[in-house]
Amino acid sequence: MRVLVIGSGAREHAIISALLKDDSVTSVVAAPGNAGIAGVVETVAVDAADPDAVAALALSLGVDLVVVGPEVPLVNGAADAVRAAGIACFGPSAAAAQLEGSKAFAKAVMAEAGVPTAMARVCASLADVEQALDQFGSPYVVKDDGLAAGKGVVVTDDRHAAIEHASACLARGGDARVVIEEYLDGPEVSLFAITDGTTVVPLQPAQDFKRVGEGDTGPNTGGMGAYSPLPWAPAGLIADVTERVLQPVVDAMARRGTPFSGLLYAGLAMTSRGVRVVEFNARFGDPETQVVLANLRTPLGGVLLASAQGRLADLPPLQWEPGFAVTVVIAAQGYPGTPRSGDIITGLEEAAELAGVDVLHAGTTVNDDGAVTASGGRVLSVTAHGDSLVQARERAYAAVDLIRLEGSHYRRDIAARAAES
Ligand code: AMP
Ligand code: GLY
Repeated sequence: MRVLVIGSGAREHAIISALLKDDSVTSVVAAPGNAGIAGVVETVAVDAADPDAVAALALSLGVDLVVVGPEVPLVNGAADAVRAAGIACFGPSAAAAQLEGSKAFAKAVMAEAGVPTAMARVCASLADVEQALDQFGSPYVVKDDGLAAGKGVVVTDDRHAAIEHASACLARGGDARVVIEEYLDGPEVSLFAITDGTTVVPLQPAQDFKRVGEGDTGPNTGGMGAYSPLPWAPAGLIADVTERVLQPVVDAMARRGTPFSGLLYAGLAMTSRGVRVVEFNARFGDPETQVVLANLRTPLGGVLLASAQGRLADLPPLQWEPGFAVTVVIAAQGYPGTPRSGDIITGLEEAAELAGVDVLHAGTTVNDDGAVTASGGRVLSVTAHGDSLVQARERAYAAVDLIRLEGSHYRRDIAARAAES
């Protein structure tokens, strides 16, 4: 089968690496891709945010399957357009992607499905916001209702800062809304499931490091690193979340007449009162995908096609490699603010030669002299597999140490606590 992968991040690079290991996949094209992806498959330009452009490209390439990586094309209807063109697509319809596209919508579906989540209020005015802040108390959790690339949420003890974020979100006008919710304590877990709208196939859980600084300090980012699986996760976590969260949400979406097929990402908090959903995403998470797929033994292409064709119930159980994977994100100077770009990156080949290491590209391009340069906030996702978390970390950081990018930064503590225990 010939596959088109939409997106340009390390998540897409990881998906493509996995597809290339699948014998049923004869060729892969990426659009638009990045410098690392262009090193392994053909890349073509596309305006990924335009559903008609994505569908037209899929038709012109004659692909059998389109895999949509990022949320913006999905929310805009890329999967609908591709399916309308008669091509199988891995990813939810625009209507189903609202599980990620609107936090208020996700809360409504969770309420309907009886899924445990934080108590929340949807606010359209600052007066509502102030009342909700007082209702739930500190720490305050203020969320932009719409898509915000991982940066729309502020968690703070400072009531003033909470109100400031809310008023910035509401200032967009129109039907802008903010969600104020109860603070959830406890470690976070990302659990992905592949679904065809009926059958739910959970993957291994992962943990993401969202704050920019070591010790979970500083502002939220798209994710600075991840590891999988979680040695500390309670036995039965996957089965429990599948039964209480994933399957009920998939069933509720089907009942609404907007079945969710593709990847359902549950962001969970393991609170003292049990598991609660923090958020849903409608696509593979980044950087968690890099570690989850590093451990997946079952060929990925067949699973994604089965999801797109509604045949997941016929698949044998997924197989996993023993051991663990860790990914460390190298970010450009300035990220998560405005990143510095254009600097040359060196050491990529030496790093990739280390045992168990895969250097996945995110914000990279090739300049006129053929050198790989930084062109985004998250630049690389340096991923390693090992027999233990300790070994996976050692391998990932040994690779990171070989890579040079002026002004870049990364966290030294990815998976550190889990590896110690
Ligand atoms: P979200 O975009 O909803 O995933 O939020 C981004 C991050 O904000 C989450 O990964 C959490 O770290 C934090 N967060 C979101 N909601 C809550 C909450 N109710 N309580 C505590 N932290 C939260
Ligand atoms: N790792 C967070 C996300 O993909 O949204």
